[in-house]
Amino acid sequence: MKKLALIGCGGIGSYHLEHFLKFHDVELAGFCDLLLDRAQSFVKKAGSGKAYSDFIQMYDEVRPDLVFLCVPPTCHGRIEFETIRRGIPFFVEKPLALDMKLARELVRQVEEKGLIAASGFQCRYDTINETAMEFIDSHPVLHVAASRVGGIPEAPWWNNKAASGGQLVEQTIHQLDMLRYLLKTEPDTVYSVPSRGYITQEENPGYFTDDLSTTLITFQNGITCTMMTGCYSLSGASWDSKMTFGSRSARMDYYLCAKATLYGTTEADRPAESSGIIAGDGTQRKSDNEVGVTVESREDFGLACDRTFLDAVLTGDPSRIRSPYADAYKSVAFAMACNESMETGLPVKVSY
Ligand SMILES: NC(=O)c1ccc[n+]([C@@H]2O[C@H](COP(=O)([O-])OP(=O)(O)OC[C@H]3O[C@@H](n4cnc5c(N)ncnc54)[C@H](O)[C@@H]3O)[C@@H](O)[C@H]2O)c1
Repeated sequence: MKKLALIGCGGIGSYHLEHFLKFHDVELAGFCDLLLDRAQSFVKKAGSGKAYSDFIQMYDEVRPDLVFLCVPPTCHGRIEFETIRRGIPFFVEKPLALDMKLARELVRQVEEKGLIAASGFQCRYDTINETAMEFIDSHPVLHVAASRVGGIPEAPWWNNKAASGGQLVEQTIHQLDMLRYLLKTEPDTVYSVPSRGYITQEENPGYFTDDLSTTLITFQNGITCTMMTGCYSLSGASWDSKMTFGSRSARMDYYLCAKATLYGTTEADRPAESSGIIAGDGTQRKSDNEVGVTVESREDFGLACDRTFLDAVLTGDPSRIRSPYADAYKSVAFAMACNESMETGLPVKVSY
């Protein structure tokens, strides 16, 4: 049986472990964290394997056939170089790295070695994407209005932008990735404006990141997108990770990893002539007969994501992986271009 190892036994590591417990065709052989007690708690929960605080020692002793890398954004580099050198297929959590030069070199080495490598953009495995792609194929999209607002995540490194990349790179990157995936195009230019100062040091000591940012994105095929995202909200002020894809005849409200609601795609759902924007005063209202058609996630997309990577390693065929390493790098570069725009105050051409 192939041997699986995991490095980084924190929040997202636990999420993957829950999935591994459902797999009975792989041996859970090694868990590594700088904090040994975390690795030990994973061994206990897995009911197998050995705990380590040094990944080199784990690689030497366990000799894993595949590894999940679940470390914070600034902890990439040495682990991947060693993993690639040993030819171990790996799954790495987004955002892969914050240093784009490092990320490019890792992509180069993965490709040179022909190694199976995937990333944690699990939203790509959601079944609602079938509906979303059909909608986009049959309704040319003009604009996407996107947003995501939540509170400050708990991980200690998170509220320092130098360590996490900030909200866009750390969390909203899932939406940036889904824009590329669903629209089947690449970003051309981004212009991103940060807002700071709402969360104070008194309220949250060590908080050095933007409270929110607003970004205008142009895509290579002419579609535009506005993305507003923040990590400032107290309970009750958060809102869904939603993207409204607008075409001339219909629209789709896409809720990340939850559901997609289509409006105007059926006869019954078409507004009467008098509905929509009320002539004269510019007031907008929902049409009386607009009910929408909602499609919800049918399967555990996170489980599907991990299973797909495992199957790729077991069969040697990576073709079903929806977020290969080299492609994930492009979503990271997209998000980092937004950060560059925030720093320079200028529009930034996205380049890979
Ligand atoms: N795909 C997703 O939806 C998703 C969700 C949450 C987090 N993440 C990503 O996962 C990564 C980790 O996030 P988290 O919330 O689990 O962080 P965390 O702080 O909870 O856990 C990270 C763990 O890595 C360990 N670690 C750091 N360097 C190490 C090293 N060299 N060797 C061994 N262990 C090391 C830390 O001690 C810690 O226990 C981040 O990049 C985050 O963006 C992805």
